[in-house]
Amino acid sequence: MQKEYNEIIEQATAEHKLEKDEIETLLSCEGSTLKLLFAAADRVRRTFMGDEVHLRGLIEFSNYCQRNCAYCGLRESHKSLPRYRLDTAEIVAIAGAAVPLGYKTVVLQSGEDSAYSAELIAVIACRLKEELGLAVTLSLGERSEEDYRLWRNAGADRYLLKHETADVELYGALHPDMTWENRKKSLYLLRELGYQVGSGCMVGLPGQTLSSLAKDLLFLKELDVEMAGIGPFIPNPNTPLAKAERGSVELTLKMIAIARLLMPQAHLPATTALGSIDSKGRQKALVAGANVVMPNITPNKYRRLYEIYPNKICLDDNPAHCRNCIGGIISSLGRTVAEGAGHSPKEQFTLGLG
Ligand code: SAM
Ligand code: SF4
Ligand code: FES
Repeated sequence: MQKEYNEIIEQATAEHKLEKDEIETLLSCEGSTLKLLFAAADRVRRTFMGDEVHLRGLIEFSNYCQRNCAYCGLRESHKSLPRYRLDTAEIVAIAGAAVPLGYKTVVLQSGEDSAYSAELIAVIACRLKEELGLAVTLSLGERSEEDYRLWRNAGADRYLLKHETADVELYGALHPDMTWENRKKSLYLLRELGYQVGSGCMVGLPGQTLSSLAKDLLFLKELDVEMAGIGPFIPNPNTPLAKAERGSVELTLKMIAIARLLMPQAHLPATTALGSIDSKGRQKALVAGANVVMPNITPNKYRRLYEIYPNKICLDDNPAHCRNCIGGIISSLGRTVAEGAGHSPKEQFTLGLG
């Protein structure tokens, strides 16, 4: 069996391709083979993406959501959660304060909140680009083709829409008011509109199997994402999944490592969720294939209210503190904070970009 694992890792390192059963085999590796997998992913990361770690400043600008995803604390049915919305001036000010901290990208994230018109989001994206020179990632969930087009034309560079799980049955069970078909359609639409597309999944969802996880990786590979966010599922007491078990750190790291072997040029974040269930989670991810961190730059008074899952890290820390903390983590690993905007290294996204 040892040989079989080694052969699969070698093949994936050289060809960046795996069959579904091979992915499932790698997802069950342990001990010395697991170390080999992480080392291979780390090598591929260094070869294709270098030693720089890209920082994306996350602005959680609204916790209103009209959806009811079974796992998420922002779901509409969580009535006791106080809700907030930031206005344009606040968002621009938060992003402006991130520039002197060295941020080159901000991620605007919210629940699915139709109170922000497409035009308003377009104005905000445009101001962040034109006035502050930032690369802009949007993560607002599913919207219409017209909205996505308007934002792209206004200058949004990237869109983050996790597919959550590519197990169609499980997707249906977790999303009472959404369909896998529409999720997939939205992601392909974003691709057609020329966004750098980010997607990703949770690891350890109730009912998820190694076969489901292999499907997640094959879906990300098929979509040829520029970014893949892979984090553990963390049960939230205010959701129907309150009593479910959380995802495992090790399985999440395996998913990140295999993602790196399959998609050498993708940006892979060491997720906040991983850092929230293991104090060294982000460090572990950064040496198992990851090359991005998304520190929270939302003002403290709102952080607690963006309660996707409990015990999220950094709730009492401010953006300057988090920036220092992350800088320390990155240099302790012998890596550097990236100087540039951190666009996808794929040719179509780097031509003409400074
Ligand atoms: N509403 C947008 C969307 O769904 O794409 C963006 C915001 S949503 C809160 C961002 C991500 O949080 C989701 O893509 C999901 O993967 C993650 N998330 C939600 N609940 C979670 C949980 N209990 N554990 C881990 N991640 C969770
Ligand atoms: Fe809303 Fe996104 Fe949470 Fe689903 S995951 S309930 S769409 S914020
Ligand atoms: Fe916020 Fe470490 S990143 S305190």
